[in-house]
Amino acid sequence: MLVEDQVLRNDWIVASKIDDVKEAPLQVTILGERVVLFRNEEGIHAFKDLCIHRGAALSLGCVKDGNLVCAYHGWEYDSDGACKKIPQLPEGRQIPLKAKAIKFSTKEAYGFVWVNLNNNEPELFHYPEFSDDSYRHVLWGPQEVNANPPRIVENFLDVGHLAFIHEGFLGVQEHPVINDYDIHWEDDRVYSDEIAIFQPDPDGSGESKDVYYTYEVNRPLSVRFTKRDPDTNNKFTILLTILPVAERKSIAYGVMSFNYENELSDEKIVEFQDMIFAQDKPIVENQKPEDLPLDLQVELSLKCDMMSIAYRKYLKKLGVTLGTE
Ligand code: FES
Ligand code: CO
Repeated sequence: MLVEDQVLRNDWIVASKIDDVKEAPLQVTILGERVVLFRNEEGIHAFKDLCIHRGAALSLGCVKDGNLVCAYHGWEYDSDGACKKIPQLPEGRQIPLKAKAIKFSTKEAYGFVWVNLNNNEPELFHYPEFSDDSYRHVLWGPQEVNANPPRIVENFLDVGHLAFIHEGFLGVQEHPVINDYDIHWEDDRVYSDEIAIFQPDPDGSGESKDVYYTYEVNRPLSVRFTKRDPDTNNKFTILLTILPVAERKSIAYGVMSFNYENELSDEKIVEFQDMIFAQDKPIVENQKPEDLPLDLQVELSLKCDMMSIAYRKYLKKLGVTLGTE
């Protein structure tokens, strides 16, 4: 069961773009749990999407004077989930102490709202580019995928497919070889050495050449790569983070960060990334088994799959059960 993955319940899970949480309450499903996000003057809040009175979805209601109001009978909950008003109560009658919404911890960072279902608020992983003024950031997603998160994440960390699935964009079939590289483990973070990838036109000049990719796992569902141009030292990073919705249902989000001038509009950059992702989607939606095998004897890995193997070891070490076998 999704809701039982305690490693992920203990972690910060991406729930939405900050800007997508507007006046009206928003329902999101996190690890099979329906959650309502709403905004008032104090910020963005997350409750279990369930009114204790008759089980209505609080996301069907509205925000009034900073309180989340249930659509069914108008009970009003404040930012902490305490019920402040029950319209049906006669004058002088106390609001029952049990009248509460179940609140989840939230954090706003890197353009996204993150929710912690177990309310234990661990430190969020670092994405240093985001606080670096020399970078421009473009948010990407939501992209729905009918696959479990580990298959989606591993695809993102997979070096060997670029020349095939993304032929003509991120690689060319005449240059499929991946040279050996090393992996480094540091606390909860795993990253690769720079890996040379031959690309048809990495900087828009029309010239094909090698660029260097570094892959990094920050959390079970948050990973990144940085692509470096050896001639200019231009760097482009994509952070990928996955919202596990339900069994074989995920939503992918990302941040694309550039430390160089790029005349493309945000829309064009998102459009390109959508096109690339659309090439990966049929692969991850049809992989068998749907759950990522953590037993390294299952499936046949090559030396160039070291990053994927490191990711599998990482999930095993942390004890992630969702989407693994
Ligand atoms: Fe929410 Fe009755 S179900 S107020
Ligand atoms: Co791909």
